[in-house]
Amino acid sequence: MKYGALFVAVFCTALTGVVGLENGVARTPPMGWLSWERFRCNTDCKNDPENCISDRLFRTMTDLVVSEGYAAAGYQYINIDDCWLEKERNFRGELQPDRERFPYGLRNLADYVHAKGLKFGIYEDFGNYTCAGYPGILGYLETDANTFASWDVDYVKLDGCYSHPRDMDRGYPEFGYHLNRTGRAMVYSCSWPVYQIYAGMAPNFTSIIEHCNLWRNFDDIQDSWSSLESIIDYYGNNQDVIVPNAGPGHWNDPDMLIIGNFGLSYEQCKTQMALWAILAAPLLMSVDLRTIRPEYKAILQNKKIIAVDQDPLGFQGRRIYKHNGIEIWARPITPVQQNYFSYAVAFLNRRTDGTPSDVAVTLKELGLVYPGGYVVEDLYENVNYGLLTPSTKIKVKVNPSGVVILRADLQPSFQKYRPVFPPQSTYDPYQVFQVQRNYF
Ligand code: GLA
Repeated sequence: MKYGALFVAVFCTALTGVVGLENGVARTPPMGWLSWERFRCNTDCKNDPENCISDRLFRTMTDLVVSEGYAAAGYQYINIDDCWLEKERNFRGELQPDRERFPYGLRNLADYVHAKGLKFGIYEDFGNYTCAGYPGILGYLETDANTFASWDVDYVKLDGCYSHPRDMDRGYPEFGYHLNRTGRAMVYSCSWPVYQIYAGMAPNFTSIIEHCNLWRNFDDIQDSWSSLESIIDYYGNNQDVIVPNAGPGHWNDPDMLIIGNFGLSYEQCKTQMALWAILAAPLLMSVDLRTIRPEYKAILQNKKIIAVDQDPLGFQGRRIYKHNGIEIWARPITPVQQNYFSYAVAFLNRRTDGTPSDVAVTLKELGLVYPGGYVVEDLYENVNYGLLTPSTKIKVKVNPSGVVILRADLQPSFQKYRPVFPPQSTYDPYQVFQVQRNYF
């Protein structure tokens, strides 16, 4: 390990006190494509051969992820969701994919995905059935982990329908144990906390972090702005519990990106991408890559916003201001200098009055107090504000249901200042976050 990386690892552990699942994968939030939100449980290949859950759909999306530049932007996983299974296990008790829709088997499909330089993900459920009623893994944990490894699976999403939330504290770690025992590194995506929260239980996040690479906390995303808003509110309203759990190898999952589908406007799509980057969220597109319009593709491939999402420190951001429909969200990112962080800052306008809102705030008020200043840049508009000191007031215009996202990189070349406060081991990158007054 390089000293820089070592420093970051030790430093982050000291800050958060959290040590997660160390299976070597998902050191940054996973990026890829997932079928569910857009293609659902369409199994009608006779009438709808191009859109049904089938070998053909996943090969087509694999090709497009590569040929349309998504892979180069960092999207890596091609993930099957529900409805890929036969309704019965085979005579050996093993899972088998639907014979008509996946005629070559899943190992063959995985080989295709791998040959294109991508990784292959699958869906199952801890209970008796998947949410759509296909066989679950209960009673077959070891067999199914071995089956997935034999198909060269790289990512397993394990849902929680048709099981008892109380059994999950034992069952999710047990399946994780069997996955690890296969010797194949697989990203382990859990739905463990969301089902427990629905059942009125307080999830044991210490254990969830230890056993899962990512997990769902809240409702399924739907193709609408109100669904997206409810997720944003959930993560903001519960951030004190949620945010400290994120870090390299273990992430909160606010669900798929629905950018490029039917329910969100252009502004709203920009909002989802920016907020997901602030939340250090997995970036799993669920969209038809054959028909997506260029402006939505550009949002999904915005390299600067992806770099925020994938920042190696792995801190999840927080909502630091909310008043009169204006929100500010901020996330500590690299580069880091002594006790100071750089930040990504998103300004969100939830107003519906139809005209852009001006938001003006000094860097200091946002908690950006590094005396050497920050180079500030707008990540959608390609505007660079240059080097700004903490007392500089920045003014942004935020469209209704839209966002402005800035990146403020501190300038490590500034050498003269020697900070006197607080020692690194106890310094909290979030403590500076408090926009004190209601400005807007
Ligand atoms: C649950 C999950 C979704 C999707 C469906 C499939 O609702 O939360 O993400 O996997 O099941 O049936």
